[in-house]
Amino acid sequence: METVVSGIRSTGNLHLGNYFGALRNFTRMQHENNCYFFIADYHSLTTHPTPGNLYGNVRQVLSEYLACGIDPDVATIYLQSDVPEVTELYLLLNMIAYKGELERTTTFKEKVRNQPGNVNAGLLTYPVLMAADIIIHKAHRVPVGKDQEPHLEITRKFARRFNTMYKTECFPEPEAYNFGEKLVKIPGLDGSGKMGKTEGNGIFLSDGDNTIRKKVMRAVTDSGPAKPNQEVAEPINNLFTIMQFVSEPATLKHFKEQYARCTIRYGDLKKQLAEDLVKFVAPIRERIEDITADSGYLRRVVKKGKEKARESAAATISEVREIIGFRPF
Ligand code: TRP
Repeated sequence: METVVSGIRSTGNLHLGNYFGALRNFTRMQHENNCYFFIADYHSLTTHPTPGNLYGNVRQVLSEYLACGIDPDVATIYLQSDVPEVTELYLLLNMIAYKGELERTTTFKEKVRNQPGNVNAGLLTYPVLMAADIIIHKAHRVPVGKDQEPHLEITRKFARRFNTMYKTECFPEPEAYNFGEKLVKIPGLDGSGKMGKTEGNGIFLSDGDNTIRKKVMRAVTDSGPAKPNQEVAEPINNLFTIMQFVSEPATLKHFKEQYARCTIRYGDLKKQLAEDLVKFVAPIRERIEDITADSGYLRRVVKKGKEKARESAAATISEVREIIGFRPF
């Protein structure tokens, strides 16, 4: 059985793109792998959240993951800040991580461009902490999106470097988890591109029924097909794509046929899509609300996750300390 590690950003609520693109896969793969999922709360400090926001976001994201089907009795789900071994490994890896290579990381350069007023050392060493997260459990696979590939590449480099430097095979070189044909991209409601955090473009798992309806009714469309059987324009095709995930196949077929015949009424399409989205999201939202309100449950989940994660992390750290030369007298 392979070990899989994935960190979860604790900023921003989850939207349908996160659900179909990642979460749904997490809930499936937890049964086939030894999975560690954690909330990357230390990583979120690079943008200096207030204590209240930090706590609220962690609680929300944890509840959302649980509501979507991550099972704490199957996978290990924990908070990064609950596992001090991670920070120890981070410190140790910092000694073999070079300033130049960190500065050249594309994600870092992007941050420097976007937030020139807050280029802190945590931002520079973000990939080192991420590498520690991953190799602390000797992970084989990491399910990450395209944007995280540079970080995974650097993680592989650090694992290799450590092994070479100390003539050991302590760390496997983790690879990206390939979802194969299951890899999906959910478009946004703004006519082009994929669903993101931008207000108006995404449907969040915590959105209320009327919020969903309003967002869908505001979705970008066009003036309609000009002639029969023409290629479906992007904004409409995006709505069809979302429909494919939440509606009955017959519903999608119906609207596609109407489009081809130029008889489609976008108002009807949107009304149907809105109701199907409501039907899909409402049970998840209700579970999220139940879970966030249940402090006892959350406390038990976090405690159990911490114990399981620390057991694995402590084993790695004691091996690493021995390898490096921190030995008992
Ligand atoms: N950087 C990741 C993101 O922004 C989150 C993350 C932190 C992560 N540590 C990780 C992902 C370890 C995978 C493995 O999405």
